[in-house]
Amino acid sequence: MIFDTTFETEAQIEIRTLARKFAQERIRPIVEHDEETGTFRRDIIRELGNLGLTGIPVSEALGGAGLGYQEYIGAIEEIAAESGAYAVSVAVTGLPQVILEKQGNEAQKQKYIPKLASGEGIGSFVLSEAGSGSDAASLRTTAVRDGNHYVLNGTKLWITQADEADVFIAMARTGGPGAKGVSAFILEKGMSGILMGKREKKMGMNISHTMEVLLENVRVPVENRIAEEGDGMKVAFAALDSGRITIAATALGIARSAIECASRHANLREQFGKPILEFQGVGFMLADMLNEYHSAKLVVQKAAFLKDQGLPFSIQAAQAKVLATDMAMKVTTDAVQILGGSGYTREFPVERLMREAKMLQIVEGTNQIQRLVISRALKQD
Ligand code: CAA
Repeated sequence: MIFDTTFETEAQIEIRTLARKFAQERIRPIVEHDEETGTFRRDIIRELGNLGLTGIPVSEALGGAGLGYQEYIGAIEEIAAESGAYAVSVAVTGLPQVILEKQGNEAQKQKYIPKLASGEGIGSFVLSEAGSGSDAASLRTTAVRDGNHYVLNGTKLWITQADEADVFIAMARTGGPGAKGVSAFILEKGMSGILMGKREKKMGMNISHTMEVLLENVRVPVENRIAEEGDGMKVAFAALDSGRITIAATALGIARSAIECASRHANLREQFGKPILEFQGVGFMLADMLNEYHSAKLVVQKAAFLKDQGLPFSIQAAQAKVLATDMAMKVTTDAVQILGGSGYTREFPVERLMREAKMLQIVEGTNQIQRLVISRALKQD
């Protein structure tokens, strides 16, 4: 089998199969239209929730599936094979759940996780600002204590699905400069002062809206602070470690779709009297695409395995993110090349997949930042 499931348990294959069936039946028919029109359907997330696919890694007691990242990456890959945007949507709704399960208190877990895990609610991660992207700890949004509340003011940028979200995890400055001055807060839809700014016009992933978020005197109860004052960047960075594994899994799905489409085309398309697959220039290109997909997949599986074992996985998550997303960029670009003139048109999905792959090299820490994380690990005392 070209796309085998070696190293996957029965439970992992079951989750993968469930997600694939849903994505092919429910997302495939609408994806091209909805990408063109920028239409996000909450029903898709609800239905994924009904199948248990929006809370895979959180405990059953909190409404999740009680499984691990090894199951989660399989589901995300299958959703991404049909729509990178819905895979990112599921991954970002997962972030508040993962944060709260690990760092939230009991009341926060009970109040917010079940709604997100069931797909009833949508989550958002509110970190970046115009002046703080890669240098996340330089953020300027403020949170000033006022009795039993904090008052948040600032402008956030590039926030995934903020316009749809019910629960936001937002980072804001409660102290001095640098990482130690930042705290993390839970914000809820409907809190006065959470305003949507511009919606970005993007190259791709249009189903998933990317928003500017204005926080104008948002009064957040003290009980909505996660962990202690000053722990905000640790909360954010730990979440990003997990998020990077899901972005890597999204890249696997996008790449696999591109390989499937390009190899189908290379079998059917004849030039000079034979299928173009039989020309080494095309056949070897496809062989390399397949090789690169499989080697990236092993690294993604390893990062997920380490996380599930409770072992350190930051470096491996960064490696998975770099290797899988760079691979997806190359593979989708080559797929467009193999389809030639057709590849550049919207008759085939490969040009969309190429645009989706590009986003993955940027989000949840650019691939340059991942290399920074990896190179720091090489530093000798
Ligand atoms: N887990 C937990 N804590 C961590 C951590 C991790 N992986 N990495 C660092 N920390 C802690 C450090 O220990 C440190 O705390 P102490 O001082 O107590 O030791 C604190 O956090 C600050 O760490 P650094 O000094 O290493 O931080 P830095 O300012 O040098 O930044 C960086 C490091 C790797 C460059 C980091 O800023 C980074 O990852 N930048 C990229 C940001 C990013 O990924 N943004 C994506 C936004 S979300 C998105 O894309 C879309 C979406 O919708 C989800």
